[in-house]
Amino acid sequence: MDDAKQVPGEPSANTLGARVEPAQDQAAAASAVRQMFSNIAPRYDLLNHVLSLSVDRYWWWRTARRFRHIVRRADAAVLDLCCGTGDMTFALYRQAGPGGAAIVGADFAHPMLCRATQKSAGLPLQWVEADALQMPFADARFNLVTSAFGFRNLANYDMGLREIYRVLADDGEVAILDFGEPKGMLGKLYRFYFRRILPAIGSMISGTRGPYAYLPASVARFPQPQEMLARMKAAGYREVNYTPYTFGVAGVYWGKK
Ligand SMILES: C[S@@+](CC[C@H](N)C(=O)[O-])C[C@H]1O[C@@H](n2cnc3c(N)ncnc32)[C@H](O)[C@@H]1O
Repeated sequence: MDDAKQVPGEPSANTLGARVEPAQDQAAAASAVRQMFSNIAPRYDLLNHVLSLSVDRYWWWRTARRFRHIVRRADAAVLDLCCGTGDMTFALYRQAGPGGAAIVGADFAHPMLCRATQKSAGLPLQWVEADALQMPFADARFNLVTSAFGFRNLANYDMGLREIYRVLADDGEVAILDFGEPKGMLGKLYRFYFRRILPAIGSMISGTRGPYAYLPASVARFPQPQEMLARMKAAGYREVNYTPYTFGVAGVYWGKK
């Protein structure tokens, strides 16, 4: 699992990250992910709410509330990475209340950030176009870094964990919210929905098949909780843990620098 000596951008035999067919390497995978999210940006919010039956709103709210001890601090800086159209960022802002933390949303898909900017008119939020694997932020700048349904799309998970670690201040916290794979009978039903029904509805509404075939494949490829926690520890995080949401359909990984 240790690929610390890896040259940035050059995958080692142990590199794990998102892949979009037919992309074969890290750079091609990142570029395909960026293109895919740029293409679906206009319908992204609608699709999200329809396909998750709006449970996504609860997951964002629950994650933001879990970290309100940081977001309510006037002296804190918070980064919502892979912010997309900003719904996790808005959940953080609502928890922060007036006089809370300074909140930045970052994403590498320009059309997603355009939606976020439109949706946040008048709010004191900052949007930055940035690649999560190479962020334009100084070391130790943030007290909290969140990522909702974004981290799974990174082309190199260990590089992503190390880059988040770099921008976190000492004692800063990370929260990675993403889909999981529930076990048992519910898991079977859920997998049927996720692998058959969701791609069909998603393709119909978005008019393109790729992203909604990619979604279940990317969740299946994502490390199981124990492996993800081990990768977080290897990247330097302490007190790492995982809290499943909604019978494990989603869940949040968290830890401290
Ligand atoms: C599924 S969307 C999630 C958006 C939002 N956080 C939410 O909860 O709705 C994933 C986002 O991750 C972004 N993303 C994927 N890889 C990225 C990278 N390397 N750097 C920055 N953003 C990335 C995509 O552009 C996309 O907007």
